Amino acid sequence: MEEKRKIKIGIFGIGRGSIFINFRNDPINFEIVALCDKDEPRMLQIKQRYGLDDSTKTYTDFDEFIKNPEIEAVLLHNYFHEHAPFAIKALKAGKHVMSDCAAIGTLGEGVQLCEAVEQTGKVYMFGENHGFQKAGLEFKRLYDEGEIGEIMYAEGEYNHPTTGKAPTSYRLSDGPFHWRAWLPSTYYCTHAMGPLMYVTGRKPVSVNARSICLEDFNAHTRDVGLISFRDCRCSANLITMDNGAVFRVFGTGCPGHSNSYRYHGTHGAMEMVHGPGYFGPGEIRVWHEPHHCKPGVPCERKYYPEWPAYNAQAQRWIAHHQGGDFWMAYFFAEAIRSGAPVPYDVYDGCAMSAVGICGWKSALQGGNEVHVPDYRDKADREKVKDDFEMPVLDENGKIKDGYTWIKNTIRDVTLEGQIEEAKRCYEFNKGYYVSNVRN
Ligand SMILES: NC(=O)c1ccc[n+]([C@@H]2O[C@H](COP(=O)([O-])OP(=O)(O)OC[C@H]3O[C@@H](n4cnc5c(N)ncnc54)[C@H](O)[C@@H]3O)[C@@H](O)[C@H]2O)c1
Repeated sequence: MEEKRKIKIGIFGIGRGSIFINFRNDPINFEIVALCDKDEPRMLQIKQRYGLDDSTKTYTDFDEFIKNPEIEAVLLHNYFHEHAPFAIKALKAGKHVMSDCAAIGTLGEGVQLCEAVEQTGKVYMFGENHGFQKAGLEFKRLYDEGEIGEIMYAEGEYNHPTTGKAPTSYRLSDGPFHWRAWLPSTYYCTHAMGPLMYVTGRKPVSVNARSICLEDFNAHTRDVGLISFRDCRCSANLITMDNGAVFRVFGTGCPGHSNSYRYHGTHGAMEMVHGPGYFGPGEIRVWHEPHHCKPGVPCERKYYPEWPAYNAQAQRWIAHHQGGDFWMAYFFAEAIRSGAPVPYDVYDGCAMSAVGICGWKSALQGGNEVHVPDYRDKADREKVKDDFEMPVLDENGKIKDGYTWIKNTIRDVTLEGQIEEAKRCYEFNKGYYVSNVRN
C-alpha cells in the first residue's frame, strides 16, 4: 500500500507534547520539523532522547517558531488556560491547529477563536483523547448503529487526584502559579465530557454544578500535603443537552482515581465495567429491557472490544492514554491529508471548555443553572464576547493583562490570601514536583 503523505508538525510545549513525537510512522506519518518551549534545556534533552536531528528546529519564542514556513500544522500542548491566543496566532500564520485539551480559558476567547477558524479556513481540531480508547470507539459504533436508541442520560467520570509528596515521573508544576494548582474544580472537564459528546453527538445547553469543599478541609490536607489552594477539589455537574438529555460529569481531585462512562438511551444502556487499574479493565456491558431485546442477541452482554482498525499500530501506543493519543494524532493527520471531518471541531471544543467555565460560575452561585454558549449562534457570541474572567494568574502572581479575576475557590478568601497559600503549598510540595522527574 502507498505510504500516506507526511504532515509537517511543530509542537508547542514539550511536556505532554513530547508524546506526539512518537507518531512518525504509518498511518499517522508526522514529520516533526520544529519544537518550541521556553524551557530550552528540557527541550534539547527531549530532542536528543527522541533521536531528532538538525532538521528539527528548536525555538523558545512562539512568535519566531510560528514564522517557520516548513510548519504545516501546530500541536498546542502549552499551559491549559492559554491555548486560544496561541491557536489564533497559529491559524492566522496559515497553520492547522490541534489544541490539547482546553480550547479556551475564558468565554470571550471562544468568540475570537471561532472567528479565527472561520476566517482562515484552516483545520482546527479540539484535541480530546479519552473517547478514543477501545471502549470509547466501540460505544460510538454501537450508538451510531442505534443499539441504545436516543440518549437520555449519560455519566462521564475523570477523577485524577494529585496528592503532595507522592512520587511522579512527570513534572506537574513549574511554580506556585501553575494552572494545575489554580484551576477551579469544574474546569478540567473535557476527559469526562468529550467522550459523551463524541458518542452521542449532542451539544450542551446549560450546566448546574456543585463544587465539593469539606468544612474542615485542613484536617484532611495537613498530613498528605494536598494543594490546599485547590481546596474545593472536585465537582459534580449536571449538564442539560440540546435534546433534553442530562449528562452527569464528575472530577477531578477526590482521592480514588476513576475514569469511566455510562449511557442510557430510549432502547437500552451501555457502560464501562468498573474494576482495578488506572483505566479499569477495558470490558464493556450492554443491556436492554426485555421488550427491547433483539431476536438472537442476548439481552445483556459483556465483552472486551477491539480496535476498529490499525490494530498493531494502535496497540503499540496503548501506554499513552489507552491508545487515545494515537487516534487523536491519526484523526488530525487524516483531516489535513484528506479533508476527513475532525471528531471535535472548534464549536465542540469551545462548548466543552465552556461547560467547565460556566460550571464554575454555577458552583460559585451554589449550583444555579448557567447557560452554555452555542458558539455557532451569533446572538450567543454577542452575550459572552467581553467575558475574560480568568481564575489563573500570570507567572508573577498578577492578574493577566486583558483579563479580570474570578476566584477559584468557593471558600471565603481574598486573592491575596490565596497567593500566600499558593506560595506556601508550592514550597511544601516542591519535592514532589521536581524530584523523580522524567523530563
Ligand atoms: N489529553 C491528555 O490526556 C492530557 C494529559 C496531560 C496534559 N494534557 C494537556 O497538555 C497541556 C500541557 O500539559 P503538561 O502536562 O505538558 O504540563 P504544562 O502545562 O506544565 O506544560 C506546558 C509546557 O509548555 C511550555 N510553555 C508554556 N507557555 C509557554 C510559552 N509562552 N512559551 C514557550 N513555552 C511555553 C512550558 O515550559 C511547559 O514545558 C495542558 O493543556 C494539559 O491539559 C492533556
